[in-house]
Amino acid sequence: MDEARARGRRVGFVPTMGALHEGHLTLAREARARVGDHGLVAVSIFVNPTQFGPNEDFSKYPRELERDVARCATAGVDVVFAPDAASMYPAGERTRVTVRALSEPLCGPFRPGHFEGVATIVTKLFALAGRSVAVFGRKDYQQWRILSRLAEDLMLPVEVVGVRTVREKDGLAMSSRNRYLSDEDRQRASAIPKALGDAARAWERGERDASALREGAEAKLRAVADSIDYVDVRDPSSLEPYAGGDRALLAVALRVGNTRLIDNVVLGEEPAPA
Ligand SMILES: Nc1ncnc2c1ncn2[C@@H]1O[C@H](COP(=O)(O)OP(=O)(O)OP(=O)(O)O)[C@@H](O)[C@H]1O
Ligand SMILES: [Mg+2]
Repeated sequence: MDEARARGRRVGFVPTMGALHEGHLTLAREARARVGDHGLVAVSIFVNPTQFGPNEDFSKYPRELERDVARCATAGVDVVFAPDAASMYPAGERTRVTVRALSEPLCGPFRPGHFEGVATIVTKLFALAGRSVAVFGRKDYQQWRILSRLAEDLMLPVEVVGVRTVREKDGLAMSSRNRYLSDEDRQRASAIPKALGDAARAWERGERDASALREGAEAKLRAVADSIDYVDVRDPSSLEPYAGGDRALLAVALRVGNTRLIDNVVLGEEPAPA
């Protein structure tokens, strides 16, 4: 990367956990658009152990490096970086990175330590990548806000970009974990973008009451979810509870079957997801 930069190439960087889908490839294409034909686009593939809880799916997370490398090639990626856990967490390592406040709401209480694991690995990856533009998906909206803050607070030479959620035909947000859904689960999951879409339409009609927006979405989700972690309306920048303003983040996390799904829409900014 240093060598590429020395020859005047800009670097675009897309961190992932692999099992790549069209959402990831869209991030790679955005990175390419940002750095130009002459630039260098790198994708990292690393299933980061420190961001998984003890009862989460770390050991059975899908790993398919060969297919991922082939997919990256079709998207014009120049470099795939797939380190092993021992090189990212060598014996004796002791450092963790915490982004305060932004890590606390939404997924924070339901995935203790998750964002600390994410912030730690991404700090390491940013250190390796050096001066670059790093591209993330807004499907993981809270993660995107945390990592933007992290790059700024640690004065890293990394510009963090967030790309709109890429969706399936029925609006379901693409996710590597969607493959865990049975046909019946998948059918039920299509209610998620519809509930977000209904809220977007209510917002368009002038609804600004956070409780009404939240309760409307929650009722629809309760009908299909096996459990709901949260349905929440927040300020899109600070992630504080929504207290008025021309945009609001409606974010949800729920379980369909054994699969935990997240999704969101920024009301007043994005079109209805479905
Ligand atoms: N549907 C999507 N649209 C846009 N970006 C996405 C989408 N899905 C994932 N991303 C982004 O890809 C990057 C890597 O995410 P990751 O590898 O965890 O994929 P994932 O699909 O979220 O997998 P999982 O569901 O297992 O968490 C993140 O920046 C994430 O926000
Ligand atoms: Mg993910």
